Amino acid sequence: MAVQEQPYGWDEIEEAASFLGERTILRPAVAIVTGSGLGAVADEMEAADIIPYGEIPCFPPTGVEGHAGELALGVLDGNEVAFMRGRVHFYEGYSLQRITFPIRVLHKLGAGTLIVTNAAGGLREDFAAGDLMLITDHVNLVGMAGFSPLRGANDPRLGPQFVEMSAAYDPGLREIAVSVAGELGLALRQGTYVMCAGPTFETPADVRFLRLIGADAVGMSTVPEVIVARHEGMRVLGLSHISNVIPGELAPSGAEISGEGSLHQEVLEAGRKAVPRLSLLIKGILRRMAEA
Ligand code: HPA
Repeated sequence: MAVQEQPYGWDEIEEAASFLGERTILRPAVAIVTGSGLGAVADEMEAADIIPYGEIPCFPPTGVEGHAGELALGVLDGNEVAFMRGRVHFYEGYSLQRITFPIRVLHKLGAGTLIVTNAAGGLREDFAAGDLMLITDHVNLVGMAGFSPLRGANDPRLGPQFVEMSAAYDPGLREIAVSVAGELGLALRQGTYVMCAGPTFETPADVRFLRLIGADAVGMSTVPEVIVARHEGMRVLGLSHISNVIPGELAPSGAEISGEGSLHQEVLEAGRKAVPRLSLLIKGILRRMAEA
């Protein structure tokens, strides 16, 4: 029996990074993952090189609606950036090693900073759909259940065996985000993100449990990417778009339950509306990072 899965290691990372190195002259210092419905944030870039995930060696192709599945490299406000337009999720059936492989490749290409965005369900009563939330910390529920992108023999060329997570979301970048949001007059919540594996949304009992363990927003992504970025020594900034607020009470009897998939549509639609604010915030943060 195989003890570990390690097919997306050093050699594959080198192969994918050298493929990208030949396809583009850009060497982005910042990698940005756009979550559900948020891919249009990349549209503001000049001189973009667009490369479908399917063409990049070992990249997992995404089949989820709202996730384009392409890498867009370009210049945004004077900064060379790489946008991952769409991400691959654990619930799609890939291993955590595989879904986080693109982060390692972008780091190899030169990215020292990762900005992760996602759509998340709000767990707090004072959150509203459309809010932006700066992720200050996360609860790794999937990790606690035994799934980690670092499981298996560690390759010390990639990072250390044990990864410090007490400041996974970079305090300096958080400070910049808060300050830029203030300058732009954008409301920015702060809170703890929890990852559930999905693809089911939460029951009311799930919601009460997640609130109890200190989570403010719940989603189906991000945490594995942050773990791998920290393993690689990258600085991380996380931004959630609260696409919906989830009730902790059972629907009353006789209530009409929305049809299958409609919450996913709601998430995508809300995401499209949040794109202009999220773009402004990210551009402001990049500008400030370039000045620092
Ligand atoms: N739950 C889990 N993931 C999500 C949600 C949600 O309510 N909204 C957007 N992503």
